[in-house]
Amino acid sequence: MQKWIFYILISIVFTFSFITKKNTKTNDALIDLGRHLFFDQKLSANLSKSCSTCHDPKFAFTDGYKKSIGIYGDEVMRNSPSLLNVKDRRSLTWADIELHDLEKQMLKPIFSTTPPELGAKGNENQILSRFINDKSYKKKFKNAFPKDKSPITFDNIISAISAFQRTLISENAPIDLYRSKKDTNALNPDAKAGMNLFFSDRLSCSTCHNGIHFDKETRGFPFANIGLYYCEDIYPQEDRGQYNHTKDSNDIGAFRIPSLRNIALTAPYFHDGSAKTLREVIAVYSKGGREINYGSCRGNGADSPWLDGRVTKFTLTETEEHQLISFLHSLTDSTIFKNKLYQNPFFPSE
Ligand code: HEC
Ligand code: HEC
Repeated sequence: MQKWIFYILISIVFTFSFITKKNTKTNDALIDLGRHLFFDQKLSANLSKSCSTCHDPKFAFTDGYKKSIGIYGDEVMRNSPSLLNVKDRRSLTWADIELHDLEKQMLKPIFSTTPPELGAKGNENQILSRFINDKSYKKKFKNAFPKDKSPITFDNIISAISAFQRTLISENAPIDLYRSKKDTNALNPDAKAGMNLFFSDRLSCSTCHNGIHFDKETRGFPFANIGLYYCEDIYPQEDRGQYNHTKDSNDIGAFRIPSLRNIALTAPYFHDGSAKTLREVIAVYSKGGREINYGSCRGNGADSPWLDGRVTKFTLTETEEHQLISFLHSLTDSTIFKNKLYQNPFFPSE
């Protein structure tokens, strides 16, 4: 009798480990497929761009433009955000509190026509046939979706790229070594002084940029109007942030509090790329908003009735400004460049 129980137990353990092994294998195949698709221009109608054109690992998965450019040269509405740690975001894109799924978000770059980013709409069959006619992709899709008879579909493309995006993690910056006490010298004296400024009541940066990724508020709302614009039209018509979705006037110019990880690699800054440098960003905060004296939205953001109450004016000496910038540089995780899995599989040396 006891022997029987023993045999049954052993066979359960074996089956279980066989299944988990198989699942890990399928999951690895899914991520590998997703990585190839992410970097492949075959996913765009005219073979000119991939996800990685706008989310380039060289720039911590951003693109260096003020606003990204779609496959036909149109300017996309906003600045490309970093995809590192994207799995931890509470909401996706610069201003949509209701968007949480990577799968749902991806419909926009693939299928949107306003403007086209990858331009797949109307070219679906042509794009799928590129993968169907590619032996290596055929095998990759089969390994990633072993149960599907015809696995080469947009749904599966989106699942695979999402799985890849969930592996993009960056938590190895000097600040992490310092915070975890693994290396108390990971921050130089300037960066340490800058950290104290960042977390001070005087500057109040950490009221909004707190938590492990510096994107979590300690009080208030995860979105804010930080006074970038205040003109006759209140805020530039073409993009009013969270208001675009809610039409609630309290949401005019409210954008998501972004993570500050790898910020030194992701210029230009803000939802529309309207600040070139970290110095410019700090100047906006120090004046409690931005004054604009040219173009169609002249006015002083500091006077905006929509300005978030957590933004505080301050004055910094040159030394303190330098220290604050040193601290922001300590959020750069250079190990991301050494991780081969984050690099373009078609041009591994790039
Ligand atoms: C033409 C440039 C461009 C292409 C191509 C592109 N993106 Fe983006 N991506 C952007 C911009 C700009 C945003 C910000 C959109 C917004 O806030 O409205 C964005 C936002 C995102 C976000 C949200 C990130 C966050 O922090 O909330 C994800 C995820 C994303 N893109 C993934 C992808 C994937 C996957 C692909 C390929 C299928 C892709 N993108 C292709 C420009 C691009
Ligand atoms: C009221 C909340 C709040 C406070 C306080 C705050 N920020 Fe921000 N921060 C934001 C929001 C929201 C954005 C995005 C604004 C936009 O693009 O319209 C942002 C954007 C940024 C960016 C650009 C990020 C990118 O990816 O382009 C940097 C850098 C930054 N903040 C640093 C700081 C520093 C340094 C301080 C303190 C001096 C600070 N922030 C204080 C909410 C805040």
